[in-house]
Amino acid sequence: MKNTTVEQEKQRLLEELLLGLRQPQKMLPSKYFYDEIGSSLFEDICALREYYPTRTEIGILRDNINAITGRLGRRCLLIEYGSGASVKIRLLLDHLRNIAAYVPIDISADHLLNATEELRKEYPRVKIFPVPADYTQDFDLPEIDAPFNRRVVFFPGSTIGNFMPDQARGFLRHIAEVVGTDGGLLIGVDRKKSLSVLEAAYNDSKGVTADFNLNMLVRLNNEYNADFDLDAFRHEAVYNGVYGRIEMHLISKREQLVQIGSEQISFHSGESILTEYSYKYHPEEFAAIAKPWFHVDTVWTDAHGWFSVQYLTVR
Ligand code: TRP
Repeated sequence: MKNTTVEQEKQRLLEELLLGLRQPQKMLPSKYFYDEIGSSLFEDICALREYYPTRTEIGILRDNINAITGRLGRRCLLIEYGSGASVKIRLLLDHLRNIAAYVPIDISADHLLNATEELRKEYPRVKIFPVPADYTQDFDLPEIDAPFNRRVVFFPGSTIGNFMPDQARGFLRHIAEVVGTDGGLLIGVDRKKSLSVLEAAYNDSKGVTADFNLNMLVRLNNEYNADFDLDAFRHEAVYNGVYGRIEMHLISKREQLVQIGSEQISFHSGESILTEYSYKYHPEEFAAIAKPWFHVDTVWTDAHGWFSVQYLTVR
């Protein structure tokens, strides 16, 4: 019985993939970035000179850590969406007073459990309840047997920018429900800035972002018996000023047919698969998006005004 369920789930995912690949603008869901290899490549991206968001966000957190943890208050239940293995959570754990518990949620189960093990060693007094889940789908929060004053979601990395604005609204509504009355949201939001800075961040000179993007095709080959020729696609990221977003593409270098499941997908030379958007927001734009559910309490930013860390409270 169990096997048929796994099979059915796989079939559903394949259908979802094919649906995207049959569109006039071919698309692949960005959740396929984050397997063990992808998660590790993403950590490499975060360390790149051109990729300003991570180090800028960490700088903002560091420079304002007392003000930030002061907003979260004592005995907060901290829920992190898409937790990775970052220094960001360590900054918070180092400075939060009497944290009630920490709940990291991540789609890459192996990555999450390794990170949890590390954190448990470093912070033996912090209760950690890891949740391996796709946080864009329904998931259950564990029973927390610790008294807490408020729930706060921590959503760093400007991952909110990877949603379309309408999806971002839906997601903010979901977060407001999760944290409830008196709840908060500590979120990293990337800002609009010069084209050259933006495009360099997503087209790094070492080609790590290219490997990260192409890893999506590796997964389809391994997990769905697809036969993508990795040398026949290249990565390209462009800034679309009309929509205020970086668009990540995999571009077919030639005319070709690719087999996936029982279907053949045809590409002409130069045709792209869209793999992700990364929207950039002026603080006023983001406040307007969050407004039905959240009040913007504080916006912290860096000296260039490139990135923002914002604390929002439920209305
Ligand atoms: N949240 C990150 C961002 O939008 C994700 C990201 C960084 C990303 N580099 C990427 C996604 C390259 C796909 C491809 O900045």
